[in-house]
Amino acid sequence: MTILVTGAAGYLGNQTVKKLVALGHPVRAMVRNRAKARLRLRDVADQIDIVEGDVTNRDSLAPAMRGVSAVIHYVAIAMEKRGQTYDGVNFQGTVNVLDAAEAAGVKRFINMSQNGARADLPYRFLASKGRAQAYVAASNLQWTALRPSAIFGPQDEFFNTFARLLKVTPLVFPLIGGGVAEFQPVSVYDVVEAVIRSLDDDGAIGKELALGGPEVLTLGEIERRIIEAMNTWRLLLPTPVALLRPAVKIMEATLPGSPVSASLLELLAVPNTVPDNALVNHFGMQPIPFAGEHIAYLRDNTIGDTMAKFLHNATVN
Ligand SMILES: NC(=O)c1ccc[n+]([C@@H]2O[C@H](COP(=O)([O-])OP(=O)(O)OC[C@H]3O[C@@H](n4cnc5c(N)ncnc54)[C@H](OP(=O)(O)O)[C@@H]3O)[C@@H](O)[C@H]2O)c1
Repeated sequence: MTILVTGAAGYLGNQTVKKLVALGHPVRAMVRNRAKARLRLRDVADQIDIVEGDVTNRDSLAPAMRGVSAVIHYVAIAMEKRGQTYDGVNFQGTVNVLDAAEAAGVKRFINMSQNGARADLPYRFLASKGRAQAYVAASNLQWTALRPSAIFGPQDEFFNTFARLLKVTPLVFPLIGGGVAEFQPVSVYDVVEAVIRSLDDDGAIGKELALGGPEVLTLGEIERRIIEAMNTWRLLLPTPVALLRPAVKIMEATLPGSPVSASLLELLAVPNTVPDNALVNHFGMQPIPFAGEHIAYLRDNTIGDTMAKFLHNATVN
């Protein structure tokens, strides 16, 4: 039976679709723009069913669900742009996808949540993801929620954004919030593996599984590892988040592909660690470290790519 992947042209979606195809699963990829998706999924585009659907438009979702046994739901936005809101896409969009799945008789639902997501938080992004998961958890579907810390790997947004900002800031770089916030960066390959294993894992049904890498790293350590991976050098200057806020607001207002938003900046101060790491404790995996050859891809960022991304919101890497 077919597995539906929402957000299939996105970072995790793209990797997941390719892996499912390699494993021989029939895949339907739900995307907003078929032509763009064919380009991003070009290696497997002829082996999958690509359908257009928008999670904010309930009517567009029913056709995507026909003949589907499981849904992997990835669609979410990290920044509010072009009229898309956290509430509309992350929360109501998940409600719409789940309702469409239930109406079509789909049994299994894998929801990509987020470490730290909780409905009652003051951070609007995390709250929207938390409310979405609360709706999934209250459903009658056989659901599993995965809650990764920050995900790294070629084409990631979070760590590549630091690498791009480094490219355009010579000599000195801000040690954001003093660099003390803790993260547990997790590899995209491990996250996708956990998603795919969950599909056939009855022990994962009804569970929220947090996913992290093998190490807890402060933001300062992460910045240093990125600088080292890029074979470069910067003086790290401790900078309170409040001091960066005006600069971020200007970037948001002027750059079509602004690398950061005010609401994401706040999250850099929120701990993003995974005390009970399901990659190890549930899936029995050995997580890939944020180190060495695994982060060598950060070196691929060029000034040209960086400007294309910031000024035109181009897809790079
Ligand atoms: N990346 C991380 O570090 C991280 C960490 C923890 C959790 N997560 C979660 O993992 C999931 C996937 O993240 P990602 O990094 O793969 O994000 P991504 O690359 O931004 O992919 C999200 C996809 O959602 C699609 N989308 C946006 N609005 C839509 C709408 N209204 N209707 C239909 N599709 C829409 C986008 O389509 P277009 O291509 O058309 O824009 C994009 O392909 C998200 O739920 C995220 O919260 C990510």
